[in-house]
Amino acid sequence: MDSTMKIAVIGAGTMGSGIAQVAAQAGHDVILFDTRREAVDKALAGLHRTLDRLVEKGKLTADAANAIHQRIRPASDLKELAGSGLVIEAIIEDLGIKKKLFAELENVLGPGAVLATNTSSLSVTAIAAACARPERVIGMHFFNPAPLLPLVEVVPGLATDAGLAPRMYALMQAWSKTPVICKDTPGFIVNRVARPFYGEAIRIYEEGIADMPTIDAAMKSAGFKMGPFELMDLIGNDINFTVTKTVWEAFFFDPRYKPSFTQQRQVESGRLGRKSGRGYYMYDANGAILPPTSQTSAGSLAEDPAVQRRAAAGSLSGDPAEVKVIVDRILAMLINEAADALFWKVASAQDIDLAMTKGVNYPAGLLAWADQQGAGHWLEKLESLQAEYGEDRYRPSPLLRRAARESRPLTSY
Ligand SMILES: NC(=O)c1ccc[n+]([C@@H]2O[C@H](COP(=O)([O-])OP(=O)(O)OC[C@H]3O[C@@H](n4cnc5c(N)ncnc54)[C@H](O)[C@@H]3O)[C@@H](O)[C@H]2O)c1
Repeated sequence: MDSTMKIAVIGAGTMGSGIAQVAAQAGHDVILFDTRREAVDKALAGLHRTLDRLVEKGKLTADAANAIHQRIRPASDLKELAGSGLVIEAIIEDLGIKKKLFAELENVLGPGAVLATNTSSLSVTAIAAACARPERVIGMHFFNPAPLLPLVEVVPGLATDAGLAPRMYALMQAWSKTPVICKDTPGFIVNRVARPFYGEAIRIYEEGIADMPTIDAAMKSAGFKMGPFELMDLIGNDINFTVTKTVWEAFFFDPRYKPSFTQQRQVESGRLGRKSGRGYYMYDANGAILPPTSQTSAGSLAEDPAVQRRAAAGSLSGDPAEVKVIVDRILAMLINEAADALFWKVASAQDIDLAMTKGVNYPAGLLAWADQQGAGHWLEKLESLQAEYGEDRYRPSPLLRRAARESRPLTSY
């Protein structure tokens, strides 16, 4: 697969427009299709603005920007995709609609074309089952914003040809991305391993151990760029809640992934986060956390003026012991999740760590982080949580137990 291969991107929303930009920047001719023509027009206008900014910043010459723009062609009929070597689908997250599209694509594309889905939470195998030739279907999960975040999870389905994942891996490297290969399991790597960052933070808040700004500040003091509540507000509580719920259901209701009422109520009340001006925190028009106003009514903790003031100042109320309790608990759960993904062979240790640093900007890979203190240290923390709460949620991964018993680094498995 070289840069002369024509790429088609289906769905010109947040992800599709970013993926089209990435492919065009890598030198491919790109066809961008959406059932809504206005979505394609909006994506192309957005791309123009992005490229102009890159030229202004001196990161791109005007000629290069122009060439990238010229390489992306809008399409208003699926038939125009004929001749594409690779199609990347980034439409609405709905299994029925995706399956229908994949079945239609087979009638349009040549026999050698590869069909990729950018699904975050659906089974690649289930999407591929709509095709007469499921061996050429694969997951290629980019992260938002696609032009900026390097990670791409390459996900072969059950029927995917064995040679396809290495081919897509090499292509993503040629696009200057950081690919990882993972099994077709719920949440792939990142959306599975990251769950406790949100879920355990909410539990700590719900139990009244600490308020939201304290939890956020604690996690930032451990090196994370954003705290869990700030990040959920940025992602959108509706999206984050849906991912949590989908992963929980897909794992046959494993209590480890159980969603929370706190987040469900946020969604029900329309407090979706930055995009709605209010989530766990309140925001100004520029997306900055607002200090409390005199109109603020008391009610929930996040509405407490004192809490909002601390959130706006980004300050930490807790003493070092409180910070340690928060960080240790969330980190122990994250490490357990990473160890469990490795135990179930979702991906290699190296790819699990790469995914969390390159897809969600974690300060270090979780397995390498765990190895600094040793598996026994984290096993002890999980066992004490499990003893305290008596919940399966805190059950240690068999790999954490094995690594502790064998005194081996997790990264060596
Ligand atoms: N937004 C993210 O952070 C993110 C990250 C990784 C993966 N994803 C996945 O990427 C996919 C797209 O997500 P998004 O956030 O870009 O959505 P979006 O709503 O921004 O865009 C989806 C686009 O698909 C178009 N569309 C819907 N049905 C179509 C069809 N049958 N044929 C052609 N076009 C159709 C819509 O008109 C819309 O423009 C989803 O599968 C999502 O799970 C999203």
